[in-house]
Amino acid sequence: MNGVVVYYSRTGNTEKIAKVISEEIKGQEYNLKMFDKSEISLNEIDTLFVGSGIYGGKLDNQVKDFILSLNDKPYNIAVFITRAGIGKAYINEISDFIEKARNNGNKACDDFFECYGKGIIFHRKYPRQEDFKKVANWVKNIDFK
Ligand SMILES: Cc1cc2nc3c(=O)[nH]c(=O)nc-3n(C[C@H](O)[C@H](O)[C@H](O)COP(=O)(O)O)c2cc1C
Repeated sequence: MNGVVVYYSRTGNTEKIAKVISEEIKGQEYNLKMFDKSEISLNEIDTLFVGSGIYGGKLDNQVKDFILSLNDKPYNIAVFITRAGIGKAYINEISDFIEKARNNGNKACDDFFECYGKGIIFHRKYPRQEDFKKVANWVKNIDFK
């Protein structure tokens, strides 16, 4: 796999997961909070790990728009998120994103990775070591269709 990690992390939780993935795949990671899209090089890249915090039940628009605007070649796409645990809207949001990515000619992994992010009151010790192990395992067993 020749992969990169493209994500948006407002407060650093998704970034922690992104860094584990990027080590696992030995690929670059780009937080769209810091990187301009034009700086992302996808030469030779076949796989995109796409990450976001959940904000108001949604994935970040910059990440979605960037991935759905790609039309140079088909990619393998896998989604990972962190969230606080409020509501279930994110599940339809991710399914919808995966469907759109497939309609654009990409392959995708149905099984997205999720864990809690560190909150001010709840989940203060998240993401946990266990989540880092789980995400590394998810990457190793990933399947695109
Ligand atoms: C503006 C805003 C809206 C949020 N909305 C949701 C939400 O709808 N559902 C949820 O579970 N968590 C929600 N959260 C919590 C974040 O998803 C959670 O803290 C996540 O780990 C943030 O990722 P980040 O640190 O990578 O930005 C929200 C956080 C913010 C700042």
